[in-house]
Amino acid sequence: MSHLIAPSILTASFLELGKEIDMINKSEADWIHLDIMDGVFVPNLTFGFHVIRQMRKITDKPLDTHLMIVEPEKHLEEFRKSGVDKLTVHYEACPNLAETVRAIKSLGMSAGVAISPDTPTSVLADILPELDLVLNMTVHPGYGAQKFIKHSWEKIRQLRQMIDNSGSNAIIQIDGGVGLGNIGGLRDAGVDCFVVGNTIFASDDPYETITQLKSL
Ligand code: DX5
Ligand code: ZN
Repeated sequence: MSHLIAPSILTASFLELGKEIDMINKSEADWIHLDIMDGVFVPNLTFGFHVIRQMRKITDKPLDTHLMIVEPEKHLEEFRKSGVDKLTVHYEACPNLAETVRAIKSLGMSAGVAISPDTPTSVLADILPELDLVLNMTVHPGYGAQKFIKHSWEKIRQLRQMIDNSGSNAIIQIDGGVGLGNIGGLRDAGVDCFVVGNTIFASDDPYETITQLKSL
């Protein structure tokens, strides 16, 4: 499988969101990554169902939704109804992780679990066979345009081994600090899907940057 690119709209222009989505539609991007923040699990706040529903109307790309919220289990159905295809919850925010993952799948969405940079990969050992995606955060969740955390390299190698050894079908996604300079090495280390925000939206030609990120 060639690697996937999921542009994060966190640093896109929200005044021109329609145009930004249109650019992604025409590009080689595979998914659109939506960062949902609640000001509790992370210090920042973003957007909710109303914006997702509007985006759903103007794109056929899968909406890959990263919940940085406490009590995500309360909102799973509403995310599905808003048009979300892939839903990722944080390990650190889910007291009943297995139950939450099963609920996501029973609603017909792909299920992902994210771990923050200070959370060890070993916490995912039991749940791995049930997951479609593991999101290893490569920055502390909350803001775009941060620096890639170096110890992530080791965690990616560990996750690759854990998944290969367990026979899980989960893909490895990383999120934060990905750019043209490190994406090749990260692909070689075993990453399947790259969330990329600032590198795309702060570039002079976001469409062309997506092409470059895809063509390793
Ligand atoms: C951070 C978010 C990311 C972020 C991507 O909490 O989950 O999706 O926008 O980071 P950059 O901008 O570094 O690609
Ligand atoms: Zn994200």
